[in-house]
Amino acid sequence: MTSKLLQKARDFETRYSPFVTPGERPAFHVTPAIGWMNDPNGFSVYKGEYHLFYQYNPYGTKWDLMHWGHVKTKDFIRWERLPAALAPDAGYDQHGCFSGSAVEMPDGRQMLIYTGVRQTRQKNGKIRDRQTQCVAFGDGVDYEKSDANPVIGSGDLPEGGSIHDFRDPKIWRENDRYYIAVGNRPADRSGSILLYESTDGLHWKYDGVLAACHNQYGRMWECPDFFKLDGKHVLLVSPQEMNPIGLEFHAGNGTVCLIGGYDPKTHHQIRENVQAVDYGLDFYAPQTLETPDGRRVMIAWMQNWETVNCQPEGIRYFGEMTLPRELSIRDGRLIQNPVRELENYRGYQILYRNVQFSGHTTLGNVKGRTLDMTVSVRPAAENAVYRNFKINVASDGEHCVSIRYKPENNTVRIDRTHSGFPHDIVNVRDFMVRPNRGEIKLRLILDRHSLELFVNDGEQAATAMIYTDQSADAINFETDGCAVMDVEKYDIVTD
Ligand code: FRU
Repeated sequence: MTSKLLQKARDFETRYSPFVTPGERPAFHVTPAIGWMNDPNGFSVYKGEYHLFYQYNPYGTKWDLMHWGHVKTKDFIRWERLPAALAPDAGYDQHGCFSGSAVEMPDGRQMLIYTGVRQTRQKNGKIRDRQTQCVAFGDGVDYEKSDANPVIGSGDLPEGGSIHDFRDPKIWRENDRYYIAVGNRPADRSGSILLYESTDGLHWKYDGVLAACHNQYGRMWECPDFFKLDGKHVLLVSPQEMNPIGLEFHAGNGTVCLIGGYDPKTHHQIRENVQAVDYGLDFYAPQTLETPDGRRVMIAWMQNWETVNCQPEGIRYFGEMTLPRELSIRDGRLIQNPVRELENYRGYQILYRNVQFSGHTTLGNVKGRTLDMTVSVRPAAENAVYRNFKINVASDGEHCVSIRYKPENNTVRIDRTHSGFPHDIVNVRDFMVRPNRGEIKLRLILDRHSLELFVNDGEQAATAMIYTDQSADAINFETDGCAVMDVEKYDIVTD
């Protein structure tokens, strides 16, 4: 049965989402029907299609009482809207249906598992969240919350675990069992990821601590995901309150990828390598699925908590997801590239080879705001490496967003200072790339309001929202030495 609260959200989105004109939205990135979106939830395969839910407040462009919005796709590029899936309409989730995940069950139903939030007054008078894990079962459109909810509560926590910070279960099925990895705050007040298992989704057994933060990489770890990839076990987490570490991790909310092995006896991940997931400005809470052809695909919220309150004026929705990315492991590091389905939407190819230039240049037909462009650059002579190579996009003379490669210290900088946004938010990020004497490959995906950069076939990714007016669509190249480049550019055409 659809509750009054859920029906209200569905009616609201049906009525108001048509007011958002197609031109206001990106061409191939997911946005909310109306209102506010944060984390991806329930990114999974169901009946041969990819489903994606999201943290959702239909009624305004700021975070508030969390619902789950819902879309699905056959190819990660064209998305179909479905009615809102969950509303905070039960006692145990009356203050929010927080993040969670989804899985297809052998009986044909889809199970959603999410964090139910209920606020209670403490003995000291303070109001605090109680966060428990809850399930709902459905057919890909309508979901019924279980009478057994919450299915994991305070009694299921290990000693010292906090019921106030216990959220974001990520489910998977293995050997006829369901497993979840879920974030918690243990007694040392930092983050840990707990593992539970179940045969039916209703009765859960605590297995152990999959990984603990010990205040090393931030504090509370939000939105975990745990999966096998190319012979390794990968754990993704989104820590709060990170301290910066070199150019690898910036302060605040970040994303961390822990790569290693797994000990089934202790249920601990064996840590071998730790790295950032995305090196840009707007990327949080990634979640993955496995496609029927065996690819591990990741999507994330293309925003960050530090700057979400600075919003362009007059918007009717806020928040976007990244383009889904295919993951792999190379030399112990996470590699990410745009899903290959994007290539089916490429328009005419514009190709330039061996363009030698100094100073500043533009190329005929290389412009636009909805495109897929790869630039491979190298110095004109081996002993004359330039100091800077820059690509400026979303440019109109006054505005631009730039990507700068500096071989002498092996860094790339993404800079949207002049992207037309009248707020002093974080606009610049530098990150390390592989030393390669001035040779680098930069693939840029632009979709009206966003830039996703993939360096050297996915060795690094860096994502940023850009706020420049769509008329700023020029692209130009700059170097202080002499550079040679190949440029391959496609418009992305989705209609
Ligand atoms: C991460 C997060 C999650 C929580 C959700 C609430 O962005 O804080 O931990 O479930 O957002 O909307």
